[in-house]
Amino acid sequence: MNKPIRMALTKGRLEKDTVGLLEMLGFDCTAVREKGRKLILPVPDANLEVVLAKANDVITYVEHGVCDMGVVGKDTIMEMKGKFYELVDLGFGKCKFALATKKGYDFYSGYGIKTIATKYPNVARSFFEKKGMDTEIIKIEGSVELAPLLELADGIVDIVETGTTLKENGLEVIEDVAPISARLIANTVSLKMRHAEIDRLITLIEENL
Ligand code: PRP
Repeated sequence: MNKPIRMALTKGRLEKDTVGLLEMLGFDCTAVREKGRKLILPVPDANLEVVLAKANDVITYVEHGVCDMGVVGKDTIMEMKGKFYELVDLGFGKCKFALATKKGYDFYSGYGIKTIATKYPNVARSFFEKKGMDTEIIKIEGSVELAPLLELADGIVDIVETGTTLKENGLEVIEDVAPISARLIANTVSLKMRHAEIDRLITLIEENL
């Protein structure tokens, strides 16, 4: 048998959903389910080796070809870009990027430059560039919702899933930026060199989505 195909999975929810998908396809994921602190786990009957990584690192490993494939959110793909193939929308990990402000705030009024806080500066920048709107983008590392509450920013561009965090902090979505879901990605060289195996896996996944 060929050496296993290495698949980087974004740790956490996307990892769980991907393991669920692989099991639905009939593959035994016991080693991943009982991983303890191990980071590289076999899925032998799929000839896969699962690598558990943070979202940004999934892209780095796939881009550099040390992992053949990866599962990562469209949010990370949009922010990081990079050279790899985006093959399948896996349909899980659904949420959206949205522009939100304090409830009732009239974001589009006035001529002053608006300040936007976000964990995703590239996504925010390109959203406002497309509108032809000049903005100041401030990078925040976590709980971006704080920025308008502390009067640091006029608005935020962030991930909204249930909307609870916005609601509980007196904020509201004023515009959707982009839908997000988990994507299967592949290294460009791996896709050529191991086309038959990767194609078989993709077909199997697509038939079961
Ligand atoms: C994300 C996002 C929001 C929250 C939205 O943060 O930045 O804060 O989830 O979810 P909701 O619409 O269901 O309330 P996350 O929980 O990933 O934490 P983080 O700030 O550490 O990224």
